[in-house]
Amino acid sequence: MARARAVFRCATCGSTSPRWAGRCPGCNEWNTLSEEIEVPVVRAAGSARARPGGSTETPQPIGEVDVTEWAAKPTGVSELDRVLGGGLVPGSVTLLGGEPGIGKSTLLLQVAARRADLGSKVLYVTAEESRQQVKLRAERLDALHPRLWLVSELEVPSIVDHVDSVKPDLLIVDSIQSVHDPELGSAPGTVTQVRESAHRLVGEAKARGLATILVGHVTKDGNLAGPRVLEHVVDTVLAFEGDRHHALRLLRAVKHRFGPTQDLGLFEMGEVGLIPVPDPSRLFLADRCTGVAGSVVLPTIEGHRPLLVELQALVVPSYLSTPRRSAQGVDSGRLSLLLAVLERRAGLTVANCDVYALAVGGVKVSEPGADLAVALAVASALTGTPVPDEVVACGELGLGGEVRQSSQTGRRLAEAARLGFTRAVVAASAPAAPDDIEAIRVGSLAEAVAVLGLGHAPKRSRRPGDERGA
Ligand code: TYD
Ligand code: MG
Repeated sequence: MARARAVFRCATCGSTSPRWAGRCPGCNEWNTLSEEIEVPVVRAAGSARARPGGSTETPQPIGEVDVTEWAAKPTGVSELDRVLGGGLVPGSVTLLGGEPGIGKSTLLLQVAARRADLGSKVLYVTAEESRQQVKLRAERLDALHPRLWLVSELEVPSIVDHVDSVKPDLLIVDSIQSVHDPELGSAPGTVTQVRESAHRLVGEAKARGLATILVGHVTKDGNLAGPRVLEHVVDTVLAFEGDRHHALRLLRAVKHRFGPTQDLGLFEMGEVGLIPVPDPSRLFLADRCTGVAGSVVLPTIEGHRPLLVELQALVVPSYLSTPRRSAQGVDSGRLSLLLAVLERRAGLTVANCDVYALAVGGVKVSEPGADLAVALAVASALTGTPVPDEVVACGELGLGGEVRQSSQTGRRLAEAARLGFTRAVVAASAPAAPDDIEAIRVGSLAEAVAVLGLGHAPKRSRRPGDERGA
């Protein structure tokens, strides 16, 4: 029998090294290696790997493969079903990643209750909280259902025993980082433990046709804590994001073996849990002040979903030797580039001014199609001239000041028209606009600035925004 040996394993990429090093030889991350004892494990029965007598599978023509048992079953939570392309596939394993406190446990308790409502038996394994804590939360969420079973368990073999006795259709493990397998020598929470626990649960899910959801924590830089290999062993990786100070939560599929990964789910965290947001554009624009300089509405595309987001800019005289550039929800490097393009190609300089730019509502707008709207918001703030309320703008800006069309312009404009906007500033090459919205076609940023009457920058000696509430 093989002997136990000590190795140093990277917490980010999972690669091993026989001796410690400050920098991982696999992924070049610093301070990620930690010592582990590797004990060879003999797998228990139940997982496909334990079969001694060779394969029980037979190859068959691809057209004859039976897929009926792989049909997705709805979870009952509309926005999750939208992201999953219908629901959870039996035997599939889904990893739900997100920062602590973002609402993973809340979402899954709601999913468990809705699934139980639809007739499934659900086992919720809590490894981080007590049963009592989970029950109290379930009371608030109206999630007390006789078909929803709860157990507080830390050890993977015991979780498998509970699955045997409860025989659920859906298993939820909260979280994969806090369960462990005592057969392995290493301490709970180490990379080996997380990976092996996930492997074991995936094996059980496949062998039983049991839909399984694992909760995974993410590190401060947004990666799933623990090894990347976790992302490879599961079928679906969902990311649950949002700004903790805002109610909005975004759910997207980073990887999905059973369908497209583009759709976006939106929820609002409320007093009684997460509420699906079927009409996000209306939510983002609900508190919009009209007639104020520095505000431009951008029709953006998140995944496959058109969204209207208000972008705001504020330009004030700077008292710093290096004026401040602050961006929230907008890429800060892109903002600097746009300020340079505004100065060179549209003659609007913010050299002695602090510039603040933000996307309202806690959303992040990272697509280049936001360029024109950001630049126009800054131009509007600088000159104190509001952009008319019924106007939206989208397009990518080049360093020459040229405006390029952004993807899916038709769908963006249709969403803008649905919410009552009647004019859209778009690239000259953009496709025909839907009937109820007029396209204002511009070839360059200077043209867009002129069309909206934002071209009259105040003289340098005057303070920007002095004339109107910029
Ligand atoms: P939780 O689901 O525990 O987050 P995670 O499992 O991702 O760590 O959610 C925690 C936050 O959600 C907490 O700050 C309280 C808030 N919350 C609400 O605002 N409303 C609710 O109904 C619930 C259950 C939680
Ligand atoms: Mg939790």
